[in-house]
Amino acid sequence: YRRLRVALLGAGSVGSQVADLLLRHGDELADRAGASLELAGIAVRDVDASRDVDLPRELFTTDAETLIVGSDIVIELMGGLEPAQTYLLQAINSGADVVTANKALLATHGPEIFDAADQVGASVYYEAAAAGAIPIIRPLRDSLAGDRVQRIMGIVNGTTNYILDRMDAEGAEFADVLADAQALGYAEADPTADVEGYDAAQKAAILASLAFHTSVPLDAVHREGITHIDKAMMDAARHAGFVIKLLAVCERLADADTAGESISVRVYPALVPREHPLASVHGANNAVFVQAEAAGDLMFYGAGAGGVQTASAVLGDVVSAARRHIAGGVGVGESTRANLPVVPIGHVVTRY
Ligand code: HSE
Repeated sequence: YRRLRVALLGAGSVGSQVADLLLRHGDELADRAGASLELAGIAVRDVDASRDVDLPRELFTTDAETLIVGSDIVIELMGGLEPAQTYLLQAINSGADVVTANKALLATHGPEIFDAADQVGASVYYEAAAAGAIPIIRPLRDSLAGDRVQRIMGIVNGTTNYILDRMDAEGAEFADVLADAQALGYAEADPTADVEGYDAAQKAAILASLAFHTSVPLDAVHREGITHIDKAMMDAARHAGFVIKLLAVCERLADADTAGESISVRVYPALVPREHPLASVHGANNAVFVQAEAAGDLMFYGAGAGGVQTASAVLGDVVSAARRHIAGGVGVGESTRANLPVVPIGHVVTRY
């Protein structure tokens, strides 16, 4: 097989699992990719930090820029805006295809990154940037490209679903279950991103951009968190036949006056009827319920957080990137030509 040089940036809970799987399943992945995936190195801030899995020490470096030079595929799992963006652009401009799980970066600077990739014919893969292990990016971008998505309702944050689910099932209080979610490794480094809905809003912007073939800026996403939800509200919802879930709702709206269309993207704790499929999403799982004009209702369900689970989505992207790289194909562009306006709708009463 032709050898492809793979650089990994970041060895946190996802990155260390990606490296481990890449090393352990290298032969099998090579058969599937049609190329041998050689892990050239792992760039980290601190070579001696403790990791979730044991990895060969000689792979680690603090020099990301040098590691990127000459790489065919660069996997960015550092998170955060900088220096992740600088490294991703360096990788793209040096001819690499890139794989990232960086939802904050894509939700904030996605158009710049996709444009940079288009300029040089590179591809950006980001299946792990929304809903962890669940395949939802490709279905929205590819499988449903011939349809018209009308609405997405997603449980896209594992930490908040875990918290709300335990509050619902056990009558537990918010603060007690947040500590457990952190201990289980679902929460972001700063759990504010989870409980205030920022993480879900980033994922909603990414999903809405794909679903509606437009570019949804993060600041156009209405966002409410779950810190004000208490036991009394949970109990009241239950007695009325509902469960409270933090939903990311992305909707296509028809404007009756102009016969034009706009979209609304919002994250808020919603009352979901107990018989709705989203009501049965328990623990830290995620689910994305998609309603499309021709396909009807679809539901994608599974692990939305967790290192090894999310590593599955990253490695799928690496295989895709390798296949494309050796085929010498052109970049997988993001079709954002629709330019639909995003209307500022807040907490509305929608019948699901
Ligand atoms: N903190 C995130 C969650 C991790 O709880 O869903 C995956 O993005």
